[in-house]
Order: sequence, then structure tokens, then C-alpha cells
Amino acid sequence: MARTARPKTSSFVVVANRLPVDRVDLPEGGVAWRTSPGGLVTALEPVMRKNEGAWVGWHGAPDEELDPFENDGLALVPVALSTDEVSDYYEGFSNATLWPLYHDVVATPEYHREWWDAYVKVNRRFADAAAEVAAKDAVVWVQDYQLQLVPQMLREQRPDLLIGFFLHIPFPPVELFQQLPWRRQVLEGLLGADLVGFQMPGASQNFARLIRQRVGYTTQRDRITKPDGRETVARSYPISIDSQGFAELASNPRTVSRAEGIRHDLGNPTKILLGVDRLDYTKGIKQRIRAYGELVRDGQVDPDDVVFVQVATPSRERVNQYRLLRDDIDRLVGRINGESGRIGRPPITYLHHSYPRSEMAALYRAADIMVVTPLRDGMNLVAKEYVACRDGDNGALVLSEFAGAAAQLKQAFLVNPYDINGMKDALLESLAASPRELGRRMKSMRKQVFDNNIDRWADDFLTDLRALA
Ligand code: ADP
Ligand code: F6P
Repeated sequence: MARTARPKTSSFVVVANRLPVDRVDLPEGGVAWRTSPGGLVTALEPVMRKNEGAWVGWHGAPDEELDPFENDGLALVPVALSTDEVSDYYEGFSNATLWPLYHDVVATPEYHREWWDAYVKVNRRFADAAAEVAAKDAVVWVQDYQLQLVPQMLREQRPDLLIGFFLHIPFPPVELFQQLPWRRQVLEGLLGADLVGFQMPGASQNFARLIRQRVGYTTQRDRITKPDGRETVARSYPISIDSQGFAELASNPRTVSRAEGIRHDLGNPTKILLGVDRLDYTKGIKQRIRAYGELVRDGQVDPDDVVFVQVATPSRERVNQYRLLRDDIDRLVGRINGESGRIGRPPITYLHHSYPRSEMAALYRAADIMVVTPLRDGMNLVAKEYVACRDGDNGALVLSEFAGAAAQLKQAFLVNPYDINGMKDALLESLAASPRELGRRMKSMRKQVFDNNIDRWADDFLTDLRALA
């Protein structure tokens, strides 16, 4: 379908690679809109509902130009991507160059000049779409690593706008960022924003250091002064969730009954361990399953008493590293269940699906121990969702030191996911912890998650941004 309608202008515009919904072709014919995967959509959807803005993004299907439309009360402005652009800009430069580079090179980043060219071209298209939608003096909030050139491109077209940028993933140490052949262009792209937000203070410090070293601008604390006299401020704003919304969902009688149903279907074990992730090599899924598998194999955990449920949403399935990971996990789970399971009692229940939020809340409610072990993660909202759903102040969170969330959820059982023996010890410790100790830890984590919800995150960022006008 060719696009015909011009979008209405808006005084608040979010620009993200993805819209909150993906357009999917149904096998029986026709199309449907499905919630897009990942933490960015979880976090921004409630913010958009409050701010009544327009959301500019890709609708998840290639080669299709769609008119602006409204979905579930949100004004959406689709940006089209061709099949080649999906391959070079999204799967290539965004997810096979930047994603591994920004996550401590846990996989090797690939650098291809044609991927970079597609990244520039698509960033320009997003900037053009945002310029068309933004009303005079509007606030435009650009999101994440896929769109780092948009702030500068937008600034050139629309100097009247107030431009914010937020990076949802880690920003790498200077020594790693230097690998990027287009490092200066990326930094200059970000400097088009008035305010650049990161998950962690260390990330904004890495950014300021790079600006001094690579671009040569002066910085004073969190302020960068550019030759034209404009300033860019770089600060950290740890992201969160709609804590109250998750809590209400978790205490709904339907969720309570579904959680009991899940426990029953799993054979009423004494303890349920749960992992929930996009199927991504940064999430440490293999490491956690290996640790659990060894505990079962060595008789330290009895699979008649304890089950592990791993839910992994399909993600970026055409990128090679993701395909390899899926095969590795299939094999690992098959081996552990084959060696240590018996009829009707597999030690690991592995679900390669996406679920509605109500089912996620029921899983969080059912789980005695939530296992979140990324090798590197900007924040990790799953950890916060679990905490928000534990209204009885019970349950344990085993959490990687390398997730941004570890800086806030200090009462979790913290682990180094590269240390398999350390993870085994933490799993055993959480399994053996007394209800009193678990209650003490959970209470303090719940206070953190409810005091710092997504509204506060958005207010902090937008108040700081508006103060720069
Ligand atoms: P990322 O942004 O890297 O995907 P986060 O942990 O920050 O990681 O956010 C993941 C989001 O996706 C959470 O809101 C979580 O509830 C959701 N999610 C993860 N797995 C599933 C699944 N199988 N079905 C539905 N939602 C999922
Ligand atoms: O910040 C995490 C993130 O990469 C978002 O930018 C993204 O929308 C989400 O995870 C899911 O990834 P994708 O859009 O590639 O499916």
C-alpha cells in the first residue's frame, strides 16, 4: 500500500526503530497487530499514553508504506523499510555491528561499509518523518542505538525543536567504541540532541570522554559545549516499568488462578525457577541452564522437587549469531532433559514463545526464584517486573552484576554469569534461604521499584530536557 495521508503535527514526538505494534500476516489470511518485543516498548507505552504524542517507527514488515493510524489510543506514524534495508540497517548495522559492540563484544561485531550506508539512509528517513510530524517548538525524543544519527539530522532541518535522545542499551567503554570505523559520525549524530540520556552514570562518563578525545569539544561535568555555542547535556536516567500496572495485573484473581494452574501443570513442585528473555546471546541463557543442569546432574537439586522454566521470545531470527544460539540452547536443554529427566518430569521446561502480559504476570507469580543472568544488559526490565509482581514480599531474584538493574536491586542474589560455580552456589543459596530473609530482601527491592517507576523516569528526563529550552 502506498502512503497518501500526511500525519497531523504533534507537540510531543517519540521516534523509535519500532512502533509498539508489529504488523503480522496471519496464516489464514488477513493481518493483525501484535505487541512488539523488548524492553523499549514495555517502558515507553505507558509514557506515550500519558503524554498524548505521536510515535514514529517501523511497523515490523518489509516493503510496505502505511499511512499514519491510531491503535489502541496511540497515534502511530509508520516508517517503511525495504527488504534490503531490513537486512543492512536493522539486522546488519544495528544488530550485528552496534549491538555486540555496545554489549562488551560478547559476540564479534562485523563492520561492513554497505551496512553503514544503509544506517545513514534509514536514519535520514526517520529524521525526515519526525521533522514532518513535529509541531513548531515540539519536544522530540529519539530512542536507542538504531537511530543515533537522527538528533543531528533533525537539528539541521528543525533548529526550533527541543531534542532528547535515550540509549536503552549500555554505552561501551572508550577502548571498545574506538573500534567503530564511523565513531566520529555517531558521536556527532548524538550531539545534535540537547539532552543525551544513558542507563548508567558510567555510560555518560564514557560518552563525555569520547567527545573530548575524538571530537575535541570541551566538557564541563555533564555539559558539552559545541563550536556554535549550543550545549549538549549527558546524564544517566535508569529506566523502569509501570510498577503499579504490573502489581495490579499480578493481584488480579484471574492471574492468581492462572499462576496456580501453571504450578499444577508443572506437577506441583516445591520450587519453580524461571528465566524470561528475548532469545539473545547477551542474556546468559546458556550459562544459567548449564549451571542448573550441573546441579541436577550432580544430585544437588532434585528434579522431582524443583523445575526450571525458561521462556525465550524469538528475536532477530535471521541474524546468524541468534540462529546459532537457538540451536545451542535446543541441544543443551535436550541433553539435560534426556540425561536427567523422567517421564512427565523434565528438569527444564523450555518455551520458545511470546506471551501476553497477563501470562507473564502469572509466570512471575508462580515462580519462587527468578533467574536473570545477562552477560551485559542496559537495565533488564524482567527483573523489575518480577519484583513488582511479588505482592507477598516473597520469592528470590538471582541477578547478574552486569545488568544495569543490579545497581538498584542490591538485595538480589548477585552473580557473575561467567562464573558457573558461583551461579550454582547462588541458586543453592536462594533455594535454601529462609522466608524471613527472602521477605527482607524483597521488601527493599519492591520499595526501589515502586519509588522509581516509569512515570518518574520519563518526568525526570523530560523535565531536564524542557529546562534546556
Ligand atoms: P530487552 O529490552 O533486551 O528485550 P528487557 O528485560 O529490558 O530486555 O525487556 C524485555 C521485555 O520483553 C519485558 O517487558 C518482558 O516482559 C518482555 N518479554 C520477554 N520475554 C517475553 C515473552 N516470552 N513473551 C512476552 N513478553 C516477553
Ligand atoms: O533496548 C532493547 C531493544 O533492543 C530495543 O531497542 C528493541 O526494540 C528491543 O530491544 C527488541 O529488539 P528488536 O526490536 O530488534 O526486536
